[in-house]
Amino acid sequence: MSSLAVLHASQLVTLAGPKRPRVGTELSSLGIIFNGGMLVRDGKIESVGPSDEIEKNVGDADIMDARGSVVMPGFVDAHTHLVFAGNRLEDFERRSRGETYEQIAKAGGGIWSTVEKTRAASERDLLAQAKKHANWFLGCGTTTVEAKSGYGLTVEDELKILRVLRQLREEVPLEIVPTFLGAHAVPRNLSPDEYLDLVITEMLPRVTAEELAEFCDVFCERGYFDIDQSRKILSEAKKLGLSLRGHVDQLTNSGGAKLMAEMDATAADHLEQTDQQGIAALKKANVQPVLLPGSVYALGSSRYPRAREMIEAGLAVVLATDFNPGSSPTPSMPMILSLACTQMKMSPAEAITASTVNAAYNLNRGDKIGSLEPGKLANFVIFDCQDYRELAYWFGMPITHSLYVTGQRVVEL
Ligand code: NIG
Ligand code: FE
Repeated sequence: MSSLAVLHASQLVTLAGPKRPRVGTELSSLGIIFNGGMLVRDGKIESVGPSDEIEKNVGDADIMDARGSVVMPGFVDAHTHLVFAGNRLEDFERRSRGETYEQIAKAGGGIWSTVEKTRAASERDLLAQAKKHANWFLGCGTTTVEAKSGYGLTVEDELKILRVLRQLREEVPLEIVPTFLGAHAVPRNLSPDEYLDLVITEMLPRVTAEELAEFCDVFCERGYFDIDQSRKILSEAKKLGLSLRGHVDQLTNSGGAKLMAEMDATAADHLEQTDQQGIAALKKANVQPVLLPGSVYALGSSRYPRAREMIEAGLAVVLATDFNPGSSPTPSMPMILSLACTQMKMSPAEAITASTVNAAYNLNRGDKIGSLEPGKLANFVIFDCQDYRELAYWFGMPITHSLYVTGQRVVEL
Protein backbone atom coordinates (compact mmCIF):
# COMPACT_ATOMS: atom_id res chain seq x y z
CA MET A 1 0.00 0.00 0.00
CA SER A 2 1.41 3.38 -0.96
CA SER A 3 0.12 6.39 0.91
CA LEU A 4 0.56 10.12 0.77
CA ALA A 5 -0.50 12.88 3.14
CA VAL A 6 -0.94 16.39 1.75
CA LEU A 7 -0.78 18.79 4.68
CA HIS A 8 -1.22 22.47 5.50
CA ALA A 9 -2.76 23.64 2.20
CA SER A 10 -3.69 27.32 2.49
CA GLN A 11 -6.91 26.34 0.72
CA LEU A 12 -7.94 22.77 0.09
CA VAL A 13 -10.66 23.30 -2.53
CA THR A 14 -12.70 20.11 -2.16
CA LEU A 15 -15.86 20.86 -4.17
CA ALA A 16 -17.61 18.48 -1.80
CA GLY A 17 -21.38 18.56 -2.26
CA PRO A 18 -24.33 16.72 -3.75
CA LYS A 19 -23.51 13.74 -5.99
CA ARG A 20 -24.69 15.46 -9.17
CA PRO A 21 -23.76 18.47 -11.30
CA ARG A 22 -24.08 21.75 -9.42
CA VAL A 23 -26.65 24.42 -10.32
CA GLY A 24 -27.59 27.95 -9.24
CA THR A 25 -25.91 29.05 -6.01
CA GLU A 26 -24.31 25.59 -5.61
CA LEU A 27 -21.86 26.66 -8.32
CA SER A 28 -20.39 29.15 -5.84
CA SER A 29 -19.84 26.61 -3.10
CA LEU A 30 -16.29 25.24 -3.29
CA GLY A 31 -16.15 23.43 0.07
CA ILE A 32 -12.86 25.09 0.99
CA ILE A 33 -10.90 23.85 4.00
CA PHE A 34 -8.36 26.42 5.21
CA ASN A 35 -5.11 24.83 6.42
CA GLY A 36 -6.48 21.63 4.88
CA GLY A 37 -5.11 18.13 4.59
CA MET A 38 -5.82 15.00 2.61
CA LEU A 39 -4.79 11.37 2.99
CA VAL A 40 -4.34 9.28 -0.15
CA ARG A 41 -4.06 5.48 -0.17
CA ASP A 42 -3.57 3.30 -3.21
CA GLY A 43 -4.45 6.06 -5.62
CA LYS A 44 -7.70 7.03 -3.91
CA ILE A 45 -8.66 9.72 -1.46
CA GLU A 46 -9.15 8.23 1.99
CA SER A 47 -9.90 11.31 4.04
CA VAL A 48 -10.05 15.08 3.75
CA GLY A 49 -10.20 17.61 6.59
CA PRO A 50 -8.35 20.15 8.71
CA SER A 51 -4.63 19.46 8.44
CA ASP A 52 -4.28 18.87 12.20
CA GLU A 53 -6.89 16.07 12.07
CA ILE A 54 -5.36 14.41 9.01
CA GLU A 55 -1.89 14.57 10.58
CA LYS A 56 -3.04 12.30 13.41
CA ASN A 57 -3.58 9.40 10.98
CA VAL A 58 -0.53 9.88 8.79
CA GLY A 59 1.27 6.70 9.90
CA ASP A 60 4.05 5.88 7.44
CA ALA A 61 2.60 7.96 4.57
CA ASP A 62 4.89 10.17 2.51
CA ILE A 63 4.33 13.80 3.43
CA MET A 64 3.69 16.60 0.94
CA ASP A 65 3.84 19.96 2.68
CA ALA A 66 1.46 22.22 0.72
CA ARG A 67 1.98 25.31 2.88
CA GLY A 68 1.24 28.50 0.93
CA SER A 69 -0.55 26.58 -1.84
CA VAL A 70 -4.00 25.92 -3.24
CA VAL A 71 -4.81 22.23 -3.61
CA MET A 72 -7.76 21.35 -5.86
CA PRO A 73 -9.05 18.59 -8.15
CA GLY A 74 -7.33 18.40 -11.54
CA PHE A 75 -9.26 20.26 -14.22
CA VAL A 76 -11.60 18.17 -16.35
CA ASP A 77 -11.67 19.53 -19.91
CA ALA A 78 -14.88 18.29 -21.53
CA HIS A 79 -14.24 19.50 -25.11
CA THR A 80 -10.97 19.14 -27.01
CA HIS A 81 -9.79 18.21 -30.49
CA LEU A 82 -6.50 16.81 -29.19
CA VAL A 83 -5.37 14.82 -32.24
CA PHE A 84 -4.42 16.73 -35.40
CA ALA A 85 -1.37 17.30 -37.57
CA GLY A 86 0.35 20.64 -38.06
CA ASN A 87 -1.18 23.97 -37.12
CA ARG A 88 -3.22 26.77 -38.73
CA LEU A 89 -0.82 29.68 -38.71
CA GLU A 90 -2.05 30.90 -42.11
CA ASP A 91 -5.66 31.06 -40.85
CA PHE A 92 -4.44 32.88 -37.76
CA GLU A 93 -2.61 35.49 -39.78
CA ARG A 94 -5.58 35.97 -42.14
CA ARG A 95 -7.89 36.51 -39.18
CA SER A 96 -5.45 39.06 -37.81
CA ARG A 97 -6.00 40.94 -41.08
CA GLY A 98 -9.76 40.85 -40.61
CA GLU A 99 -11.01 37.78 -42.52
CA THR A 100 -13.64 35.65 -40.78
CA TYR A 101 -13.55 31.93 -39.89
CA GLU A 102 -16.17 31.18 -42.56
CA GLN A 103 -14.39 33.20 -45.26
CA ILE A 104 -11.09 31.47 -44.55
CA ALA A 105 -12.74 28.04 -44.63
CA LYS A 106 -14.29 28.82 -48.04
CA ALA A 107 -10.93 29.99 -49.36
CA GLY A 108 -9.21 26.68 -48.62
CA GLY A 109 -8.20 27.06 -44.96
CA GLY A 110 -10.33 25.94 -42.06
CA ILE A 111 -11.07 22.39 -40.94
CA TRP A 112 -10.34 21.01 -44.42
CA SER A 113 -6.70 22.12 -44.38
CA THR A 114 -6.14 20.27 -41.09
CA VAL A 115 -7.92 17.22 -42.57
CA GLU A 116 -5.42 17.12 -45.44
CA LYS A 117 -2.45 17.27 -43.08
CA THR A 118 -3.95 14.73 -40.68
CA ARG A 119 -4.71 12.26 -43.46
CA ALA A 120 -1.13 12.54 -44.71
CA ALA A 121 0.36 11.94 -41.25
CA SER A 122 1.31 8.44 -40.11
CA GLU A 123 -0.19 7.01 -36.93
CA ARG A 124 3.26 7.30 -35.35
CA ASP A 125 3.66 10.99 -36.16
CA LEU A 126 0.13 11.78 -35.02
CA LEU A 127 0.81 10.00 -31.75
CA ALA A 128 4.03 11.96 -31.23
CA GLN A 129 2.23 15.28 -31.74
CA ALA A 130 -0.70 14.15 -29.56
CA LYS A 131 1.73 13.31 -26.76
CA LYS A 132 3.10 16.81 -26.92
CA HIS A 133 -0.44 18.19 -26.63
CA ALA A 134 -1.23 15.83 -23.74
CA ASN A 135 1.79 17.13 -21.84
CA TRP A 136 0.61 20.70 -22.39
CA PHE A 137 -2.72 19.80 -20.74
CA LEU A 138 -0.99 18.18 -17.77
CA GLY A 139 1.28 21.22 -17.45
CA CYS A 140 -1.78 23.49 -17.19
CA GLY A 141 -3.32 21.43 -14.37
CA THR A 142 -5.72 19.22 -16.36
CA THR A 143 -5.99 15.53 -15.47
CA THR A 144 -8.88 14.43 -17.73
CA VAL A 145 -9.85 15.50 -21.26
CA GLU A 146 -12.57 14.58 -23.68
CA ALA A 147 -10.94 14.25 -27.14
CA LYS A 148 -12.59 14.05 -30.55
CA SER A 149 -11.83 12.61 -33.94
CA GLY A 150 -12.98 14.75 -36.86
CA TYR A 151 -9.90 15.56 -38.94
CA GLY A 152 -9.99 12.30 -40.91
CA LEU A 153 -13.38 12.21 -42.67
CA THR A 154 -12.76 8.81 -44.27
CA VAL A 155 -13.48 5.52 -42.50
CA GLU A 156 -9.80 4.66 -42.14
CA ASP A 157 -8.66 8.15 -41.16
CA GLU A 158 -11.34 8.59 -38.51
CA LEU A 159 -10.44 5.17 -37.08
CA LYS A 160 -6.76 6.14 -37.23
CA ILE A 161 -7.39 9.18 -35.00
CA LEU A 162 -9.45 7.16 -32.52
CA ARG A 163 -6.75 4.50 -32.37
CA VAL A 164 -4.14 7.18 -31.71
CA LEU A 165 -6.30 8.27 -28.77
CA ARG A 166 -6.51 4.69 -27.52
CA GLN A 167 -2.72 4.36 -27.72
CA LEU A 168 -2.20 7.76 -26.11
CA ARG A 169 -4.11 6.56 -23.04
CA GLU A 170 -1.49 3.85 -22.58
CA GLU A 171 1.41 6.26 -22.86
CA VAL A 172 0.48 9.36 -20.87
CA PRO A 173 -1.08 9.80 -17.42
CA LEU A 174 -3.78 12.12 -18.82
CA GLU A 175 -7.19 10.41 -18.68
CA ILE A 176 -8.85 10.53 -22.11
CA VAL A 177 -12.55 10.22 -22.95
CA PRO A 178 -12.90 9.57 -26.71
CA THR A 179 -15.61 11.08 -28.93
CA PHE A 180 -16.42 10.23 -32.55
CA LEU A 181 -16.86 13.43 -34.60
CA GLY A 182 -17.01 12.02 -38.12
CA ALA A 183 -19.56 14.72 -38.91
CA HIS A 184 -17.11 17.60 -38.50
CA ALA A 185 -17.18 18.70 -42.16
CA VAL A 186 -18.22 17.29 -45.54
CA PRO A 187 -15.17 16.06 -47.48
CA ARG A 188 -14.56 17.74 -50.82
CA ASN A 189 -15.12 14.66 -52.99
CA LEU A 190 -18.57 13.74 -51.60
CA SER A 191 -22.01 15.33 -51.48
CA PRO A 192 -23.43 15.95 -47.99
CA ASP A 193 -25.86 13.03 -48.43
CA GLU A 194 -23.17 10.65 -49.63
CA TYR A 195 -21.01 11.52 -46.66
CA LEU A 196 -23.93 11.23 -44.24
CA ASP A 197 -24.51 7.74 -45.56
CA LEU A 198 -20.84 6.85 -45.00
CA VAL A 199 -20.92 8.13 -41.42
CA ILE A 200 -24.08 6.20 -40.63
CA THR A 201 -23.58 2.93 -42.47
CA GLU A 202 -19.81 2.48 -42.17
CA MET A 203 -18.14 4.71 -39.61
CA LEU A 204 -20.54 4.46 -36.67
CA PRO A 205 -20.79 0.65 -36.77
CA ARG A 206 -16.97 0.29 -36.96
CA VAL A 207 -16.37 2.82 -34.18
CA THR A 208 -18.82 1.11 -31.85
CA ALA A 209 -17.75 -2.45 -32.76
CA GLU A 210 -14.16 -1.56 -31.86
CA GLU A 211 -15.36 0.36 -28.78
CA LEU A 212 -13.34 3.39 -29.85
CA ALA A 213 -15.68 6.11 -28.55
CA GLU A 214 -18.02 6.90 -25.66
CA PHE A 215 -19.70 9.92 -27.27
CA CYS A 216 -20.87 10.95 -30.73
CA ASP A 217 -20.60 14.62 -31.70
CA VAL A 218 -21.67 16.60 -34.78
CA PHE A 219 -20.90 20.11 -36.11
CA CYS A 220 -24.41 21.45 -36.66
CA GLU A 221 -23.85 24.67 -38.59
CA ARG A 222 -24.55 26.45 -41.87
CA GLY A 223 -22.24 24.93 -44.48
CA TYR A 224 -21.53 21.83 -42.35
CA PHE A 225 -24.46 19.67 -41.12
CA ASP A 226 -28.00 21.01 -40.85
CA ILE A 227 -30.56 20.11 -38.21
CA ASP A 228 -32.04 17.15 -40.13
CA GLN A 229 -28.65 15.68 -41.01
CA SER A 230 -27.43 16.14 -37.43
CA ARG A 231 -30.57 14.46 -36.09
CA LYS A 232 -30.03 11.45 -38.35
CA ILE A 233 -26.45 10.93 -37.19
CA LEU A 234 -27.21 11.43 -33.52
CA SER A 235 -30.26 9.10 -33.64
CA GLU A 236 -28.15 6.37 -35.16
CA ALA A 237 -25.36 6.88 -32.62
CA LYS A 238 -27.87 6.69 -29.80
CA LYS A 239 -29.19 3.37 -31.09
CA LEU A 240 -25.63 2.05 -31.01
CA GLY A 241 -25.29 3.05 -27.35
CA LEU A 242 -23.17 6.21 -27.61
CA SER A 243 -23.87 9.26 -25.44
CA LEU A 244 -24.49 12.43 -27.40
CA ARG A 245 -22.96 15.90 -27.60
CA GLY A 246 -22.93 18.54 -30.33
CA HIS A 247 -21.25 21.68 -31.65
CA VAL A 248 -24.36 23.86 -31.86
CA ASP A 249 -25.32 27.51 -32.42
CA GLN A 250 -21.65 28.56 -32.69
CA LEU A 251 -21.80 30.90 -35.71
CA THR A 252 -25.55 31.02 -36.38
CA ASN A 253 -28.62 30.27 -34.28
CA SER A 254 -29.97 27.30 -36.19
CA GLY A 255 -32.00 25.75 -33.38
CA GLY A 256 -29.11 23.46 -32.43
CA ALA A 257 -29.74 23.77 -28.69
CA LYS A 258 -33.32 22.63 -29.23
CA LEU A 259 -32.10 19.66 -31.25
CA MET A 260 -29.77 18.59 -28.44
CA ALA A 261 -32.70 18.84 -26.02
CA GLU A 262 -34.91 16.79 -28.35
CA MET A 263 -32.17 14.14 -28.64
CA ASP A 264 -31.72 13.94 -24.88
CA ALA A 265 -28.03 14.72 -25.32
CA THR A 266 -25.55 14.85 -22.45
CA ALA A 267 -24.08 18.14 -23.64
CA ALA A 268 -24.72 21.06 -25.97
CA ASP A 269 -21.42 22.76 -26.74
CA HIS A 270 -20.61 26.34 -27.89
CA LEU A 271 -24.08 28.06 -27.76
CA GLU A 272 -22.69 31.52 -28.61
CA GLN A 273 -25.86 32.34 -30.59
CA THR A 274 -28.38 30.45 -28.44
CA ASP A 275 -31.35 32.56 -27.34
CA GLN A 276 -33.70 32.32 -24.36
CA GLN A 277 -35.86 29.67 -26.01
CA GLY A 278 -32.80 27.51 -26.59
CA ILE A 279 -31.79 27.94 -22.96
CA ALA A 280 -35.29 26.95 -21.81
CA ALA A 281 -35.21 23.85 -24.02
CA LEU A 282 -31.86 22.77 -22.52
CA LYS A 283 -33.25 23.25 -19.03
CA LYS A 284 -36.37 21.21 -19.74
CA ALA A 285 -34.31 18.29 -21.06
CA ASN A 286 -31.55 18.62 -18.46
CA VAL A 287 -28.79 19.05 -21.04
CA GLN A 288 -25.53 20.56 -19.76
CA PRO A 289 -24.17 23.57 -21.70
CA VAL A 290 -20.43 23.37 -22.41
CA LEU A 291 -19.14 26.90 -22.92
CA LEU A 292 -15.95 27.54 -24.89
CA PRO A 293 -14.84 31.15 -24.45
CA GLY A 294 -11.37 30.37 -25.83
CA SER A 295 -12.83 29.93 -29.31
CA VAL A 296 -14.75 33.23 -29.12
CA TYR A 297 -11.58 35.01 -28.02
CA ALA A 298 -9.30 33.42 -30.61
CA LEU A 299 -11.75 34.08 -33.44
CA GLY A 300 -11.69 37.73 -32.42
CA SER A 301 -15.41 37.80 -31.71
CA SER A 302 -17.12 39.42 -28.74
CA ARG A 303 -20.26 37.29 -28.87
CA TYR A 304 -19.78 35.11 -25.80
CA PRO A 305 -22.50 32.66 -24.74
CA ARG A 306 -24.99 33.94 -22.19
CA ALA A 307 -23.52 32.24 -19.15
CA ARG A 308 -25.39 34.30 -16.57
CA GLU A 309 -28.79 33.59 -18.12
CA MET A 310 -27.92 29.91 -18.24
CA ILE A 311 -26.94 29.85 -14.58
CA GLU A 312 -30.09 31.77 -13.65
CA ALA A 313 -32.16 29.28 -15.63
CA GLY A 314 -30.72 26.50 -13.45
CA LEU A 315 -28.38 24.90 -15.99
CA ALA A 316 -25.32 22.94 -14.77
CA VAL A 317 -22.79 24.95 -16.79
CA VAL A 318 -19.47 23.43 -17.89
CA LEU A 319 -16.38 25.29 -19.16
CA ALA A 320 -13.84 23.76 -21.56
CA THR A 321 -10.94 24.83 -23.79
CA ASP A 322 -12.13 23.53 -27.21
CA PHE A 323 -8.38 22.99 -27.83
CA ASN A 324 -7.97 22.78 -31.63
CA PRO A 325 -5.67 24.29 -34.26
CA GLY A 326 -8.32 26.51 -35.90
CA SER A 327 -10.57 28.28 -33.46
CA SER A 328 -9.02 27.71 -30.03
CA PRO A 329 -5.34 26.93 -29.83
CA THR A 330 -5.08 26.77 -26.05
CA PRO A 331 -4.87 23.82 -23.65
CA SER A 332 -5.00 26.17 -20.66
CA MET A 333 -7.96 25.92 -18.32
CA PRO A 334 -6.67 28.86 -16.22
CA MET A 335 -6.93 31.00 -19.41
CA ILE A 336 -10.54 29.81 -19.77
CA LEU A 337 -11.26 30.78 -16.15
CA SER A 338 -9.92 34.26 -16.90
CA LEU A 339 -12.18 34.60 -19.96
CA ALA A 340 -15.20 33.22 -18.10
CA CYS A 341 -14.81 35.83 -15.38
CA THR A 342 -13.89 38.85 -17.50
CA GLN A 343 -16.08 38.21 -20.56
CA MET A 344 -19.02 36.10 -19.32
CA LYS A 345 -19.30 37.50 -15.80
CA MET A 346 -19.01 34.22 -14.03
CA SER A 347 -17.40 34.38 -10.59
CA PRO A 348 -14.08 32.59 -10.05
CA ALA A 349 -15.86 30.02 -7.87
CA GLU A 350 -18.53 29.34 -10.51
CA ALA A 351 -15.83 28.96 -13.14
CA ILE A 352 -13.90 26.43 -11.04
CA THR A 353 -17.02 24.35 -10.37
CA ALA A 354 -17.82 24.42 -14.10
CA SER A 355 -14.36 23.10 -14.99
CA THR A 356 -14.05 20.38 -12.37
CA VAL A 357 -17.05 18.64 -10.83
CA ASN A 358 -19.64 19.73 -13.42
CA ALA A 359 -17.32 18.65 -16.23
CA ALA A 360 -16.73 15.29 -14.54
CA TYR A 361 -20.47 14.58 -14.49
CA ASN A 362 -20.68 15.71 -18.08
CA LEU A 363 -18.17 13.01 -19.05
CA ASN A 364 -20.12 10.38 -17.06
CA ARG A 365 -17.36 10.24 -14.43
CA GLY A 366 -18.87 12.23 -11.58
CA ASP A 367 -18.57 9.26 -9.23
CA LYS A 368 -14.78 9.01 -9.73
CA ILE A 369 -13.27 12.46 -10.34
CA GLY A 370 -14.01 16.21 -10.19
CA SER A 371 -13.88 16.74 -6.42
CA LEU A 372 -11.63 15.86 -3.49
CA GLU A 373 -13.89 13.51 -1.54
CA PRO A 374 -13.23 10.14 0.09
CA GLY A 375 -13.47 7.29 -2.42
CA LYS A 376 -12.62 9.38 -5.48
CA LEU A 377 -9.38 9.09 -7.44
CA ALA A 378 -6.51 11.19 -6.08
CA ASN A 379 -6.25 13.37 -9.21
CA PHE A 380 -5.25 16.79 -7.93
CA VAL A 381 -3.14 19.89 -8.56
CA ILE A 382 -1.06 21.98 -6.21
CA PHE A 383 -0.89 25.61 -7.34
CA ASP A 384 1.68 28.05 -6.06
CA CYS A 385 -0.82 30.62 -4.84
CA GLN A 386 -2.80 31.06 -1.64
CA ASP A 387 -6.27 31.91 -2.93
CA TYR A 388 -8.20 30.00 -5.62
CA ARG A 389 -9.30 33.30 -7.20
CA GLU A 390 -5.71 33.89 -8.29
CA LEU A 391 -6.14 31.14 -10.90
CA ALA A 392 -8.58 33.33 -12.81
CA TYR A 393 -6.97 36.64 -11.91
CA TRP A 394 -3.39 36.30 -13.14
CA PHE A 395 -3.48 35.60 -16.84
CA GLY A 396 -1.04 34.78 -19.59
CA MET A 397 1.37 33.14 -17.18
CA PRO A 398 1.54 29.68 -15.69
CA ILE A 399 1.13 29.45 -11.93
CA THR A 400 3.68 26.83 -10.98
CA HIS A 401 2.33 23.69 -9.45
CA SER A 402 2.69 19.97 -9.24
CA LEU A 403 0.10 17.55 -10.48
CA TYR A 404 -0.93 14.11 -9.24
CA VAL A 405 -2.84 11.37 -11.02
CA THR A 406 -4.08 8.50 -8.83
CA GLY A 407 -1.77 9.67 -6.11
CA GLN A 408 1.38 9.72 -8.26
CA ARG A 409 3.17 12.96 -9.04
CA VAL A 410 3.36 13.31 -12.81
CA VAL A 411 4.30 16.97 -13.24
CA GLU A 412 6.56 19.07 -11.14
CA LEU A 413 7.36 22.60 -12.22
O1 NIG B 1 -15.12 23.70 -31.94
N1 NIG B 1 -16.62 24.33 -34.79
C1 NIG B 1 -16.11 23.32 -35.18
N2 NIG B 1 -15.03 22.74 -34.69
C2 NIG B 1 -14.01 23.44 -33.96
C3 NIG B 1 -13.09 24.15 -34.86
C4 NIG B 1 -12.28 23.18 -35.60
C5 NIG B 1 -11.28 23.80 -36.52
O2 NIG B 1 -11.43 24.97 -36.94
O3 NIG B 1 -10.33 23.08 -36.86
C6 NIG B 1 -14.59 24.29 -32.86
O4 NIG B 1 -14.54 25.52 -32.87
FE1 FE C 1 -14.87 22.02 -30.87
